[in-house]
Amino acid sequence: MLSEEQVSGFRSRFPILAEKTYLYNCSQGALSDAVEAANCEYMQSWKTSAAPWDEWIGVYEQLRADFAQFINADPDEVAIVTSASAGINPIASALNFDGRNKVVMSEYEFPTMGHIWLAQQPRGARIQFLDGVNNAVPAECYNRAIDEQTCIVPLTQVSFINGFRSDVASVVRIAHERGALVFLDGYQDCGTRPMDVKALGVDFFVTGTLKYLLGPAGLAFLYVRRELIERLTPTVTSWMGHRDVFSFNTKQLDLAPAARRFENGTPAIPNIYMARAALALLTSVGMDRVAARIEHLTRAFLGGVRDLRIESKTPLSSVGPLVVVRSHDAPQMLAKLTEKRIVASTRRDGVRFAFHVYNTMDDVHTALSAIEENRELMVRS
Ligand SMILES: Cc1ncc(COP(=O)(O)O)c(C=O)c1O
Repeated sequence: MLSEEQVSGFRSRFPILAEKTYLYNCSQGALSDAVEAANCEYMQSWKTSAAPWDEWIGVYEQLRADFAQFINADPDEVAIVTSASAGINPIASALNFDGRNKVVMSEYEFPTMGHIWLAQQPRGARIQFLDGVNNAVPAECYNRAIDEQTCIVPLTQVSFINGFRSDVASVVRIAHERGALVFLDGYQDCGTRPMDVKALGVDFFVTGTLKYLLGPAGLAFLYVRRELIERLTPTVTSWMGHRDVFSFNTKQLDLAPAARRFENGTPAIPNIYMARAALALLTSVGMDRVAARIEHLTRAFLGGVRDLRIESKTPLSSVGPLVVVRSHDAPQMLAKLTEKRIVASTRRDGVRFAFHVYNTMDDVHTALSAIEENRELMVRS
């Protein structure tokens, strides 16, 4: 467990935390001094370097290696892209739906997951959405839906809409038993606990840097299990996906034998600088300690919500990071929180409180007091 002294040292790296109760991590992580400095470092290299692209390609490869280590993959299993969508699309484009054509996913996926696979319908994909029951989709629902016709199962690790955590291990086991692939979307989890794509056995994993990875918008990662890489030929591609990027051979498409074949054009270098610094800062804490603190704060908050008899969309047993409580008027509740300098967010009738390692018990109590003061805006349990 981190000591309060260690937490306050870490907090001092994020200027906004001195001003606000920052529970907005499911939308955007807070800006640290390290990330701001990395942005300046990029500017400086642009201003002064005699060979900027040589320098920048080096940093881009270092980030690939850093992130691969972070999720226990090999660097050549990681593509650096500009959004989760830009990671999912080339995979969707590479699958054919002539034989197996079912895509099974829950209604709690982020919209881009639904939209990208729905866009494959003219290519033969059949999409089956699983309905949630009491804000959960148990593995049993996947068990009933996944069959020998199923091509792929997109799966959110933690849902953006209600904080529900999928039973990834069970869904992977069910899907693989029936020959289907699993595409894990870790955007609402990555950065909150240790991540091991090999132990989970997923085929694809996507996440981006702007939330719990404490980085900027405009950068994401796609992991592709090694055995699949060369079997997949994306029709969404670019020169950065070529085996030898700097051969500049316009007439020949020879894709890299690595996940880089799924990349989309010139890399977002400023974001790469900032993301590297963010990842280094986060991992310096130790991911087990990050997870333990988030669990501690989430449990305290959920206990408070239960005691106030406010309806939680997130299971009361959740270990975080996201807790979503129901409101009769979420925009109005958000305005009340803003008045109290609490930074939170809403989705439909849910008010989202998202905890990170830099949050404190004071943050928990401040948020609970604001809920109590405005209980007429909240749905009672
Ligand atoms: C679960 C999840 N997936 C994906 C995204 C974002 O996708 P993209 O990077 O394509 O905008 C979000 C962001 O809000 C998300 O919460």
